[in-house]
Amino acid sequence: MILLAQSMSIFDPASPPAESIRSLSVLVLAITGFIFIAVEGILVYSIVRFRRRAAAGTSLPPERAGESGRREIEPPQVYGSKPIEIAWTAAPALVVFVLVLVSARTLWEVNVPPPQPREGDNTLFVTVVGSQWWWEYTYDHYNGRALGFTTANELHIPAGEKGVPRPVFLTLRSADVCHSFGVPRLGGKTDLIPGRTNSMWFQTDRPGLHLGQCAEYCGTQHANMLIRVVVDSPSDFEAWLANERKPAVEHPDVRAGRSTFLGQSCVNCHRVRGTPARGDYAPDLTHLMSRKTLASGMVENTPENLRRWVADPRQIKPGCLMPAFGLGDRERDDIVRYLLTLR
Ligand code: CUA
Repeated sequence: MILLAQSMSIFDPASPPAESIRSLSVLVLAITGFIFIAVEGILVYSIVRFRRRAAAGTSLPPERAGESGRREIEPPQVYGSKPIEIAWTAAPALVVFVLVLVSARTLWEVNVPPPQPREGDNTLFVTVVGSQWWWEYTYDHYNGRALGFTTANELHIPAGEKGVPRPVFLTLRSADVCHSFGVPRLGGKTDLIPGRTNSMWFQTDRPGLHLGQCAEYCGTQHANMLIRVVVDSPSDFEAWLANERKPAVEHPDVRAGRSTFLGQSCVNCHRVRGTPARGDYAPDLTHLMSRKTLASGMVENTPENLRRWVADPRQIKPGCLMPAFGLGDRERDDIVRYLLTLR
C-alpha cells in the first residue's frame, strides 16, 4: 500500500508530454460530455413530453385511440427534413475534424525523436528493457558522457531547474512479450514490442517519486510489474550516478556469503559487477541495496523480505521466473548477508 500512496492521475501532470495529454483529455471530455448531455437531454425531454397519455381536446380517429379507448396525443409526423439532415451530418464531421487536429498536435508534442547525445545537453538517455515481470535500465549517456551501467526497477532521473531543463529520452525494447511503459504524470504510456524499438521522453522539475505500471497485459504478474521513477535533485543524481557506475565493493566480513552466492546458480542469471557473476537474464544486483523495493515494486527492500525472496521468490511473486533453489538456512542467510552489502 505504501507503494500506491503517490498520485498516478493523468490530471496531475509533472512533465510537458503529460501536460499535453491532460489538455487533450480535458478537451475530449468536454466535447463528448457536451454531446452526451445534449443527446440524453433530448431523449429525456422526448420521453417526458411525448409519453403515452390521455389528452383533452385532441381529436384522433377512433382506430388510433389507445387500448383503453382513450384518445392520445401523437406528435406531428415528419418525413424527412433537409436542414436537419445537413445539421446532423455536418456537426459530427466538424467535431471529428477538431478531434483529429488536436490529437495530431498532441502526438507531435509527445513523440519527439531522441536527439544525438552531446556535451552540455543536460539530457539523459536510458535503454529500458521490459521482461516478465521487471524492468531493466541501462544508462547510456548523461550530459554527453557515456555511462554504460545497468540497474533494475528503479529509474533515477535528474530534476530540471528554472531555465535548465533536463530531458530524459528512453529507448524501449522487450525481452519477451509486449509490455507498456506507463508513468501517467510524466509521459503517458508507450509499448515495448519484441523486435521493435520505441522511444519516449519526459522532463520534470518536480523531485520525488513518480509511480507507474506496465500498461499492456503480459502474463500472470502483469499487475505487479510496477514502475518507480525517482526524480533526484541534480547533485543527488550525480551522487547516485557515481555510486551506480562503481563495481561492487568487496566486504571482508561477508566472504562466506559471497562465495556461496558465486557457487550457486545465481550467477547464471544475475550480474554483480566486479565479480564473476555475469548473468544478464535477471536484474543486475551490483547495487541492489540502493533500491527501495524488491520484485519490481512489490515489497519493500528490507532484510526480512530479501530473506523471503531468496528462500522462495514465488511466495512473494507467484509465477516469477526465479525458482526456489532449496538452499539450507545457513546458505540462505550467508547469501542475504552478502546481498545486504551491495549498496
Ligand atoms: Cu509487462 Cu504487463
